[in-house]
Order: sequence, then structure tokens, then C-alpha cells
Amino acid sequence: MNIDKKLRLGILGSGKGSNMVAIAEAIANGSVPAEIALVLSDVADAGILDRARGFNLPARFIAPGKFRTKLDEEAEAAYIAALREAGVELVVLAGFMRILKGEFLRAFPQRVVNIHPSLLPAFTGLEAWKQALDYGVKFTGCTVHFVDQGVDTGPIIAQQTVPVLSRDDEQTLHARIQIAERQLYPLAISALARGLVRVEGRKTVTVSQQ
Ligand code: GRF
Repeated sequence: MNIDKKLRLGILGSGKGSNMVAIAEAIANGSVPAEIALVLSDVADAGILDRARGFNLPARFIAPGKFRTKLDEEAEAAYIAALREAGVELVVLAGFMRILKGEFLRAFPQRVVNIHPSLLPAFTGLEAWKQALDYGVKFTGCTVHFVDQGVDTGPIIAQQTVPVLSRDDEQTLHARIQIAERQLYPLAISALARGLVRVEGRKTVTVSQQ
């Protein structure tokens, strides 16, 4: 493998963009051999678009269409076309609030990753930090995983634990998980960009560096 080759990332987000910033900073300081080719959002005024433009990255809003929790057919085609035109090799979901399935996953087979704010398979779906708090677990965390046809079910790439403290409320726990996310996501993307992650069935294995 050519070590100068940079993996081209397409980042999709609907929110503030703190994970995108962490990835952009890790690329800038040389710890992730990748480049952000395109940032896309389904929310016209999402912070992630402003923050991406602050890094001089191409950033676009693409309307999601008529559904609330997924892209409609036309929108899905527009997302795929934009990512392909930008030469994206790995799609990185960073707070993208729509489920991607079917055509999209077939367009980027085993090339879509997500970060989820819990230790999967516990607490899938929305507000995972609240689910952890309500359940009473003593540890939760975050998980980077490949995206498959299910919701938060794809092969796990990396996880980081976060303690739940007795004085925690939703905000404090969520903030502690997000600190962990901003460490874990760049590390996982770095391993992917270096070709160190291989999928074996429902597991991933780390291969040793050549
Ligand atoms: C993150 O906390 C992530 O776990 C979830 O969405 C949030 C995105 O935050 N999937 P940001 O937009 O990266 O700040």
C-alpha cells in the first residue's frame, strides 16, 4: 500500500459538527492519513456546514425530501451522486439523523461508518445517553461501527468506555460521551485509512501493519 495515499472521506451530519471538527483537526496534525473531500448535511443551517467551511472544506446542503427519518429516493440519488463526484471512498456519519439503507449502502458497500453514543449492542437508537442513565448502568461509552441494513447493528470497529457518575444528568453524561467520541472517531478512521481493519462476518479484526 502507498502510504502517501490519503483516503477520501465524505462526512454526513445534521448537527453541530464536533466530530467532523475532531476528524479535521486530527487530519491537520498528521495523525489520520485521510482528506475530507466533501461535507453534506440534510439541515440547511446545520453548524457542521459552517464549521466545515471554516476549514475551507466543500460543504453542501442537500434536501432530504419528503420523509422525516430517511432520505427519499431522489435525495438518496443526489447524495450518492455528490459523494461519487467528490471521489469519496469512505462515508463517515457524524450525527446524521437519517437512516441509510438499500441503494445507499449498495453504492458504498462496507464503506459507511457511524459513531453511536453507547457501548453497542446496548442502547441503540435515539438519546442513548438518556437510555443508559435511566437504566442505571455504571459504564457506557461510544462505538464506531460499519453501517449495515439494521439500526446500529453493523460490525463494531472500536469502542471506548465512559463512567456514569451518581451526580450525572443527561447533559453531563452526554458531554462526557462526546469527549470520548472526539478521541475515538479519529483513531478508528486512522486505522481504516491505513487499511488495518478487516471485516470477518459480524466482527472486525485489526490486521498488522505491513
Ligand atoms: C454525536 O454525539 C453522535 O454520537 C451522534 O450525534 C452526535 C453528533 O454530534 N450520532 P456532532 O454534530 O458531531 O457535534
